[in-house]
Amino acid sequence: MKGPLTEALTQLQKKDTVSFHTPGHKNGRLYQRLQESYLPDSFPDWDTTEIPGTDSLHNPKGVIRDSQKTAADLFGADETFYLVNGSTCGIYSMIMAATKPGDELIVQRNSHQSVFHGCLLGGVTPRYLMPEVEAETGMILGVNEDNVQEALDQWPETKGVLLTTPNYYGITSNIKAIADILHEKNKPLLVDEAHGSHFILDHRLPTPALKAGADLVVQSTHKTLPALTQASMLHVQGSKVDREKLRWMLRMHQSSSPSYLLMASLDATVALLESHGASLMKELLEHIDDTKTALKEIPGIALGVEASALSDFSFLADPTRLWINLHGTRLTGYEWNTILAEKHRVMMELADPLGVLALASIGNEKRDFDRLVDAIKSTMNAFGKTKFDRPVKHKKATVSYYDELPIQRMSLQESFQAEKEKVELENAVGRICGESLTPYPPGIPAVMPGEEITESLVKWLRGRQEFAQKQILVVK
Ligand SMILES: Cc1ncc(COP(=O)(O)O)c(C=O)c1O
Repeated sequence: MKGPLTEALTQLQKKDTVSFHTPGHKNGRLYQRLQESYLPDSFPDWDTTEIPGTDSLHNPKGVIRDSQKTAADLFGADETFYLVNGSTCGIYSMIMAATKPGDELIVQRNSHQSVFHGCLLGGVTPRYLMPEVEAETGMILGVNEDNVQEALDQWPETKGVLLTTPNYYGITSNIKAIADILHEKNKPLLVDEAHGSHFILDHRLPTPALKAGADLVVQSTHKTLPALTQASMLHVQGSKVDREKLRWMLRMHQSSSPSYLLMASLDATVALLESHGASLMKELLEHIDDTKTALKEIPGIALGVEASALSDFSFLADPTRLWINLHGTRLTGYEWNTILAEKHRVMMELADPLGVLALASIGNEKRDFDRLVDAIKSTMNAFGKTKFDRPVKHKKATVSYYDELPIQRMSLQESFQAEKEKVELENAVGRICGESLTPYPPGIPAVMPGEEITESLVKWLRGRQEFAQKQILVVK
């Protein structure tokens, strides 16, 4: 008899599902297609531990050292560390290697929760940098280099800057310009490139953070490349962050029983990229071009944000991230997402009020994109054409909450330790938040502990289907 989770996964395998979500191997199909035995058929076979011949993640001297060295060469790093606890543990480690308790670190306000948790664990005070927001849709863009300069002037004691680029929608900041600004002051640039590990595969993709001059870079190899979920990498370049302290932090934040399956999947990904990476990416970019052409012909649909909004700031967009803005239709992104999943078995990475986001990878084939286009066309037809003949009109600021910095009434550390009580979200207006309120995906806290809960925040959260909490913790 199977347990409920194994039963659900077995059933999922039986259905012909198209994956436009993580992990990047797309239900294992990439490995099947290439007929490469990078991973064993039966998963327990390789589940082992540190025995003679298998080396040790925390003190690598054999095959793991060699594998990490091959990865470093491929990604252009001085040294690469395999991560078995997701990018999350890499982010904690890089923050705590670059700082000590009491230090300040400039981070984006729209960072993933792991950045704030890393600051909390390390006793670091985050100083916030606001991203640019697109005027029409409210879509969060990248960080403007002038704002980085201003932030450095405002907080000269900061130990460095931690940027998130690309963001969930694939938009990248100008890392080179920002790295130059920081390096002039001899401070490190740390990059959360969780969504950009595939950038090395083609010059049409944004420049990888390492190549653009970042000092430490964390990548979720499992999100956009075909590693197993949780398997990630931390790349190091230069000597601005103490390497020994970093190793210690990695020992602190990673399991002492690292999974050989996860590590083998990183090793396999590197081998696969070396042999097939460039050709698979070339194919993927062709499929995406064709898909965009087909989708643009459907009235009521817009793709991504306007290129002009990006070029104003020298931001770039990752073409493999396809945001299908359906605002010109009468359904919300959430409703589209449900129809695509339930009726067409096309699973997207996320939905927001305006549209749906496809995370395409080298694991996707032409037929996946055909299924996506067919599903959208058929949904359009089912909901009547006339409604969609009008031009797409965006509603401002429905995608992001980050028009302005939230009011901070207590420090992160202080509010974390403060006494708290539970109240209905609607009754929390004016109170100090006692936890992070984080719609997932994308896992970006809308409000952090210590910040004031406002009416507009409550309204915004209530409009997000991915935020289901009724009661929240507030400081007493
Ligand atoms: C921008 C960003 N950073 C970090 C993370 C954490 O990555 P992981 O899930 O590999 O721990 C995520 C996860 O969604 C993310 O979106």
